[in-house]
Amino acid sequence: MSTGTELQETVADLVDGSRGVLAADESSGTIAKRFDSIGVESTEELRRFYRSLLLSTEGLENYVSGVILFEETLGQRDDAGVPLPQLAAVRGIVPGIKVDKGKGPLPGALGDMITYGLDGLAERLAGYKEQGARFAKWREVYPIGPCNPTRLGLTANAEMLARYAAVCQACGVVPIVEPEVLMDGDHSIERSAEVNEAVWREVFAALGRHGVVLELLLLKPSMVTPGGDSPRAPPQQVAEYTLRSLRRTVPAAVPSINFLSGGQGPEEATANLNALNSLRQAPWQLSFSYGRALQEPALKAWGGKRQHAAAAQRALLKRARLNHLAVLGEYQQTLEQA
Ligand code: 13P
Repeated sequence: MSTGTELQETVADLVDGSRGVLAADESSGTIAKRFDSIGVESTEELRRFYRSLLLSTEGLENYVSGVILFEETLGQRDDAGVPLPQLAAVRGIVPGIKVDKGKGPLPGALGDMITYGLDGLAERLAGYKEQGARFAKWREVYPIGPCNPTRLGLTANAEMLARYAAVCQACGVVPIVEPEVLMDGDHSIERSAEVNEAVWREVFAALGRHGVVLELLLLKPSMVTPGGDSPRAPPQQVAEYTLRSLRRTVPAAVPSINFLSGGQGPEEATANLNALNSLRQAPWQLSFSYGRALQEPALKAWGGKRQHAAAAQRALLKRARLNHLAVLGEYQQTLEQA
């Protein structure tokens, strides 16, 4: 199979107008923080148990078309010995893999960051494909400050995302391109719009320079919201600002935009996605690739206890279903009580 056909098939399996992506690719440090929030120690066995619980949720495939996994999870098996990527694939959920290796300061751009992991990426992708991964994710992070992101921050991070995406496509792996503009701070929604727009403009310029095929990637951006220390904006306003900025900068050739939740609460992330789809002005599918906003209630319900696995699955399924309704623009707050 040519890589072009392979990529097209993966995009078609991920993008069907009503489902989204579950981000379950927390690095060892991040999952330890999440487990810590429920008073659970992060051991390999508990990570395996928790993630097999998520992936074996009956009916999840009705709302979720893909799942992003961490490298460790690709090699783990469920209690019956089934490899975890296969557990997803047999239910019609495409397994994907986070391939970046975390971030650090960007020298020459005080306050900005840069992500590592390009060296040896093609070889790593070949191995991940053998383990069942068909798409990948790479995250660049942009803090908002009075002087950040800097011009160098914008160009260097865009260049990394484009080089990663080009390597993925050459290897027959669909890239999810994730430029995360952080919510941290007390900035206004206008400032968030200004930064996100600058980020997306630069990212698509770089993708063009590197010959990345826009039809064969997914974009995973932040929504345009006020900073976490500022008062929340109503969903209608978030939707209008986000869509306006996306329409100015993201070509219509991109098949799907799958937002990250980035610290929005679970209900907030669903309401905002629903408002975006209710505007009905997008040339792309607008969907989700939530980590915390899908998992938080499930994680709490589980609490590290084997006997609470079914409750955790019910909590996950509820958020997945409500976000699926938000993709259709059919979510209502009253459904939270149902
Ligand atoms: P959140 O939805 O929790 O922001 O996670 C998405 C993700 O994959 C961040 O890299």
